[in-house]
Amino acid sequence: MHAGREEPSKPAWSGDQLDSASPPEIEAPYFDEILKAWVLSRHADILAAFRASNLSPASPNSKKVSEPIEESGRLKMRAETMEALSPIQLRAWRERLTPEAYACVHSLPIEEPADLLDGYARPLCLSLAAMVTGISRHDAAGLCARAERVSAAAAEPYDPALRRGAKAANVELRSCFHSGPEPLRDSGFVALSQTLPCILGNAWFALIQHPQEWSLLHQQPGLMEQAVEELLRYAGLVRILVRTATADIDLNGFFIRKGERIILRIIAANHDPARFSNPNQVDVTRRGAGHLTLGYGSHSCVGASLIRMAAVTITQPLLQRFAAAKPARSVVWQGGTGFRSPSSLWVGLSEV
Ligand code: HEM
Repeated sequence: MHAGREEPSKPAWSGDQLDSASPPEIEAPYFDEILKAWVLSRHADILAAFRASNLSPASPNSKKVSEPIEESGRLKMRAETMEALSPIQLRAWRERLTPEAYACVHSLPIEEPADLLDGYARPLCLSLAAMVTGISRHDAAGLCARAERVSAAAAEPYDPALRRGAKAANVELRSCFHSGPEPLRDSGFVALSQTLPCILGNAWFALIQHPQEWSLLHQQPGLMEQAVEELLRYAGLVRILVRTATADIDLNGFFIRKGERIILRIIAANHDPARFSNPNQVDVTRRGAGHLTLGYGSHSCVGASLIRMAAVTITQPLLQRFAAAKPARSVVWQGGTGFRSPSSLWVGLSEV
């Protein structure tokens, strides 16, 4: 069982981050008396929590539980979004994004350091956000500052000042999108223009730290789709998801009472040696996904196919053009307890 925290002010998952000196600690479920919540980190326990019908998603900050009446609306929202993200539509967006990605990758310098985030990921993610939400690239650029405020609060959900800033920005953003399923309006804009570059930043940071994997992908572009799964696993973004028990349940032998909160340490589960061999290695040839970065089951990310398409389409040209990327400056990290990623990624790129 959990031996207790070394520093009471630090939650168990504060070390669950890509730049940690040590890998996440995986342990049996325990009740954290300070947080008044169960903490789960083993892959099998978190999978069981995702599968349990008596656990409802909750925000890290509130005790609100989805009401049954919201459930039919949620299922309708999922169906409408899936339809809007059909394979044909994804292909159409991919065909528009691909030439932009190649043009952008060819504008990256090789004689001087380049920032892969401002110079490559962010402009392409903004273009995709404009395409998907049906606004002009010009309007999208104008909404960026507000989307950044929303994203900053999601990255650090316990900061009241960030939450206040996000509330105002959310109201303004909501009034700018009028058509399509709800997840493809303001929240989709924020996810694509802000969260997607964070995922890519983490993934590319991992590849830069593992130059042999970068080189392998340069030589074997056919590995790209499975490499994206591996990078989502290894370098995934969202640290925790939260659930509330809507009834007493037995979760893998642990008795959880109605009303208790459960913290799912997603990054820890993705590094569980009981589920993944050599979990703290990046291995782009690894087969079989199984990561929980985009959730799982009935509440899994409805934008998952879009994220995968975008990650492959944007990463492919970068790895195709450049045989290597070496760190050129130390990375400054942004975000907090929600998610954390490099704010810039300065590298020296070489074609051979
Ligand atoms: C960019 C990176 C993204 C990440 C890391 C991400 C991650 C996640 C995760 C982990 C969940 C599961 C939440 C839970 O189980 O409590 C989720 C749910 C969800 N995601 Fe995403 N997501 C991303 C982008 C998007 C996009 C672009 C959309 C728009 C289509 C989207 C729409 C949703 C919706 C609507 C849900 C809730 C599904 C439900 O409750 O039925 N996400 N996302």
